[in-house]
Amino acid sequence: MGGVLVMKLVLISSLVLNAILSIFCCSSMQLKQPRIRGNETDRLALLAIKAQIQHDPNHQVMSSWNDSIHFCLWHGVTCSRRHRQRVTKLELGSLALMGSISSHIGNLSFLGGLNLENNNFTLQIPPQIGHLHRLQVLHLNNNSLTGTIPANISSCFKLITLRLERNNLVGKIPPILSSLSKLQTFILQFNNLTGEIPPSLGNLSSLEAFSTLVNNLEGSIPSSLCQLRKLTIFSFSANRLSGIIPSCMYNMSRIIEFEVSENQIQGSLPPNLSNAFPNLKILTVFQNQFTGGIPRSISNATNLVSFQCQSNKLTGQVPNIRNLHNLVIFSVADNNLGSYKDGDLSFVSELINATQLTNLQFAYNMFGGTLPKSISNLSTNLQILTIGGNQLHGSIPTGLGNLVNLQLLVMRDNSFTGSIPTDIGRLSTLGELYLNTTTNYRGAFHPL
Ligand SMILES: *[C@@H]1O[C@H](CO)[C@@H](O)[C@H](O)[C@H]1NC(C)=O
Ligand SMILES: *[C@@H]1O[C@H](CO)[C@@H](O)[C@H](O)[C@H]1NC(C)=O
Ligand SMILES: *[C@@H]1O[C@H](CO)[C@@H](O)[C@H](O)[C@H]1NC(C)=O
Ligand SMILES: *[C@@H]1O[C@H](CO)[C@@H](O)[C@H](O)[C@H]1NC(C)=O
Ligand SMILES: *[C@@H]1O[C@H](CO)[C@@H](O)[C@H](O)[C@H]1NC(C)=O
Ligand SMILES: *[C@@H]1O[C@H](CO)[C@@H](O)[C@H](O)[C@H]1NC(C)=O
Ligand SMILES: *[C@@H]1O[C@H](CO)[C@@H](O)[C@H](O)[C@H]1NC(C)=O
Ligand SMILES: *[C@@H]1O[C@H](CO)[C@@H](O)[C@H](O)[C@H]1NC(C)=O
Ligand SMILES: *[C@@H]1O[C@H](CO)[C@@H](O)[C@H](O)[C@H]1NC(C)=O
Ligand SMILES: *[C@@H]1O[C@H](CO)[C@@H](O)[C@H](O)[C@H]1NC(C)=O
Ligand SMILES: *[C@@H]1O[C@H](CO)[C@@H](O)[C@H](O)[C@H]1NC(C)=O
Ligand SMILES: *[C@@H]1O[C@H](CO)[C@@H](O)[C@H](O)[C@H]1NC(C)=O
Repeated sequence: MGGVLVMKLVLISSLVLNAILSIFCCSSMQLKQPRIRGNETDRLALLAIKAQIQHDPNHQVMSSWNDSIHFCLWHGVTCSRRHRQRVTKLELGSLALMGSISSHIGNLSFLGGLNLENNNFTLQIPPQIGHLHRLQVLHLNNNSLTGTIPANISSCFKLITLRLERNNLVGKIPPILSSLSKLQTFILQFNNLTGEIPPSLGNLSSLEAFSTLVNNLEGSIPSSLCQLRKLTIFSFSANRLSGIIPSCMYNMSRIIEFEVSENQIQGSLPPNLSNAFPNLKILTVFQNQFTGGIPRSISNATNLVSFQCQSNKLTGQVPNIRNLHNLVIFSVADNNLGSYKDGDLSFVSELINATQLTNLQFAYNMFGGTLPKSISNLSTNLQILTIGGNQLHGSIPTGLGNLVNLQLLVMRDNSFTGSIPTDIGRLSTLGELYLNTTTNYRGAFHPL
């Protein structure tokens, strides 16, 4: 899931970068004439930035940033002619640079884009970044930055994209960042942030993508976030969030990805879930304490690609999923679904038109009856199938051998009788097959 998300975010941010590129296009024209000096403040700032880069294996900065050519032609530097050779962009991403970010960065007062992603910058984010009132894009992601997020970034009031993910940032999200009224992309995932989600962030009225995935945030999700009417990606998985999801969230009709897995969230999923999120593609709520049923309205979520609600306390039947033809992952494992009766597994037959399905998990529930024959008509893309830990009886239907791409098949801890169909022997990619019975099966369950 993280992968899908990151791909999307990269897409979004590259769109924004392209926009920035076209804004600042008119730069880096040939500036051969030494008489065009540019602004001395910018030159000194660049030299100060260079001075704090300790390691530059590709020699893109350390040796090529020298006075034999104008600084506007230095690698990664873009200037604006319109503003008398002021630096408008600094792009030093993916150069394996090591060092720290100089506080002199704050003197590049015409800077619109700063990209230092995928390097190994350490120490703190200089608060002087707050002096950059023209900054629209700030990518500091995937470095080794420490310390807190400087509240002074709130002064970069033109900021559209703020990517700080994959660093070692600690402390709280500064509430004052709510003043970034143009912010569309705000990515904090894979850090070590603590504290609560500031309610003030509900004022980020332009926000489209917000991810705090894999941090240590706690408290409940503030209802003020419901004001983020443009939000499409809401990714808060793997924190320590508790409480319930505010019901007004299901009013955020542009949501495409809704991810709150691996927290301690309680309450039920709302009955009108899919009517509320008509564009929903990814719904990830696994490993929480959700109770109640899977919303029947999920039948209408025809764009749904991934539905993962495993390891909760859900009850009732799996609703009609006949129209969810785009499903790739459908996992309801490790809940209390079903009633130990015939018909509990009728949803399996409804999945035969989901031709991209690769992962189907309904192990460790209260499903009864027999395993439908139609299981052999599921997508041949299926790689993972877990049905163990239920009370299925009767024989194992022949035809599982049609699922030629199966890698994991878990059927143990049921009450199957008869013999093992020989066509299972055709599953040449199968790496793991569990058919046995364990006494303490729950202890052996690994959510996938
Ligand atoms: C250079 O930039 C600084 C800071 O923006 C400004 O005060 C100064 O006047 C500029 N100098 C020239 C020669 O444009
Ligand atoms: C200065 O930088 C240019 C490229 O920007 C490089 O070709 C040249 O060798 C450098 N000069 C020195 C003295 O490092
Ligand atoms: C640039 O920034 C640094 C640190 O923020 C500061 O000490 C310096 O005086 C500033 N001005 C110039 C012209 O370098
Ligand atoms: C992080 O940067 C390193 C290079 O420093 C790169 O190899 C790696 O793929 C990047 N990770 C992500 C998730 O972009
Ligand atoms: C970053 O640099 C530090 C030393 O400053 C080093 O310990 C660490 O392994 C480096 N990280 C990466 C991803 O290269
Ligand atoms: C950060 O912002 C505060 C409050 O606006 C200000 O007093 C302080 O000087 C700023 N720090 C820097 C380094 O610009
Ligand atoms: C995150 O912070 C907690 C508490 O300060 C600490 O125990 C933990 O080791 C940190 N994790 C990382 C990955 O830095
Ligand atoms: C932002 O949101 C908070 C709480 O939701 C609210 O009290 C405040 O007035 C709003 N405005 C600003 C500028 O923070
Ligand atoms: C959803 O939004 C509508 C108006 O946009 C509002 O009338 C309604 O009260 C909201 N529902 C919830 C649960 O907040
Ligand atoms: C699906 O959507 C239609 C049209 O909006 C609605 O009438 C129907 O009740 C919905 N079905 C469920 C199960 O919510
Ligand atoms: C699957 O698609 C076929 C052809 O469109 C249709 O006849 C059949 O009813 C569908 N089955 C299910 C379970 O949706
Ligand atoms: C069933 O298989 C699993 C996985 O190999 C194993 O850990 C377990 O001990 C087996 N149980 C029995 C009763 O053989």
